[in-house]
Amino acid sequence: MAVPFSKYLVTAAFIVVLFLWVSISLTSAARSTAASREKIEVHKHLKRLNKPAVHSVQSPDGDVIDCVHISHQPAFDHPFLRNVTVQMRPSYHPEGLFDENNKIVTTPKERTNPITQLWHLNGRCPEGTVPIRRTKKDDILRASSVKRFGRKPNRSIPKPRSADPDLVNESGHQHAIAYVEGDKYYGAKATINVWEPQIQQSNEFSLSQIWVLGGSFGEDLNSIEAGWQVSPDLYGDNNTRLFTYWTSDAYQATGCYNLLCSGFIQINNEIAMGASISPVSAYRNSQYDISILVWKDPKEGNWWMQFGNNYVLGYWPAFLFSYLADSASMIEWGGEVVNSEPDGRHTSTQMGSGHFPEEGFGRSSYFRNIQVVDASNNLKAPEDIGTFTEQSNCYDVQTGNNGDWGHYFYYGGPGRNPNCA
Ligand SMILES: *[C@@H]1O[C@H](CO)[C@@H](O)[C@H](O)[C@H]1NC(C)=O
Ligand SMILES: *[C@@H]1O[C@H](CO)[C@@H](O)[C@H](O)[C@H]1NC(C)=O
Ligand SMILES: *[C@@H]1O[C@H](CO)[C@@H](O)[C@H](O)[C@H]1NC(C)=O
Ligand SMILES: *[C@@H]1O[C@H](CO)[C@@H](O)[C@H](O)[C@H]1NC(C)=O
Repeated sequence: MAVPFSKYLVTAAFIVVLFLWVSISLTSAARSTAASREKIEVHKHLKRLNKPAVHSVQSPDGDVIDCVHISHQPAFDHPFLRNVTVQMRPSYHPEGLFDENNKIVTTPKERTNPITQLWHLNGRCPEGTVPIRRTKKDDILRASSVKRFGRKPNRSIPKPRSADPDLVNESGHQHAIAYVEGDKYYGAKATINVWEPQIQQSNEFSLSQIWVLGGSFGEDLNSIEAGWQVSPDLYGDNNTRLFTYWTSDAYQATGCYNLLCSGFIQINNEIAMGASISPVSAYRNSQYDISILVWKDPKEGNWWMQFGNNYVLGYWPAFLFSYLADSASMIEWGGEVVNSEPDGRHTSTQMGSGHFPEEGFGRSSYFRNIQVVDASNNLKAPEDIGTFTEQSNCYDVQTGNNGDWGHYFYYGGPGRNPNCA
């Protein structure tokens, strides 16, 4: 009696083992095909982004800056740009005050300092090339997918006075900004205090920037953005970096940071997008700031960017955009962070210096001399400046106006605190 039963048992066990073995090898085969497919995709993307370099500079922060021949930069992968000649200078520059140098020292207490990029310590790029931060395999692997690498999360829409507060809070993006709307704008300028805010989670970021916006806040929002950011997932460290961004469909399928897709055409051989800026401001100590100007060339229609007083970095061709092919309908200046609420509580990721506007110079971060470019290509003071923040107990903004700083504001905060849980 016992014999046939155990025979049966052995057969059953054998079948179970066989079944397990087959299913394990099938899943691992599937997994290894998926892995090798991803590997190929990552490799292809790296090849697209990293163009052959004439010369490379090893930066002290671990970056490699490739000096790429100007006509080999990623922009020229775009089918519309294949045969375009690079415009080496803007036809027009906005008229207005360019005496930043005379304004750097305001009162002795409010002394600010010029700033450079860290990689300059180890070399420069020759004329005729543009410096491009080399993308590493790990940079791409940190992104949620190869497709999303170099892009702001969908839902980054910087909408003041949102009609849909649930959406604002749900998205986890928090802002403290000043803005103008209700006119046609052809550019914007600001001098932005530079800090290194702490980021709680590597998938969060903290940035301070100008937004040049076109269209309503729908699926086709156009945006050109420039400023500084700390973004561990994008760059693999906590350094403060110069960045630009553009999108013509509300952060969905078009656009990217820096030169991480075809779009921006760089002409400058001294400043690298996405490279660390150094030094940064310290609490109750030395203060550093950068000036950024974005404006539309009235002749060619392209949107240009200038860093400081001397560096015209390049331009976004008008054809990339729909609304911005004409003009901007809104300008925003200020900070944005991602609050991912990892433990159900507000993140402690800082915006600006991590201190509230009330603390003032040397403690709270500022934007000063904020200006817009009007239809006559003149830089002028903005009118009717509004402010917006989702939760002022977490991050706040306070505007002001005086002779030295023109229109300015302090912004930012610590995130989580007893009033922001
Ligand atoms: C670019 O120019 C070449 C030679 O002038 C021409 O053969 C080619 O069709 C052009 N390509 C595009 C996309 O316009
Ligand atoms: C977002 O949520 C916080 C906390 O739940 C609330 O105090 C705040 O009013 C909300 N903000 C908006 C714009 O609805
Ligand atoms: C960045 O800062 C966080 C804390 O704010 C720290 O946990 C993390 O190790 C830092 N990352 C790097 C790459 O230094
Ligand atoms: C982006 O988010 C919006 C709103 O949640 C959604 O309707 C849209 O499908 C998303 N687009 C992509 C490309 O994920």
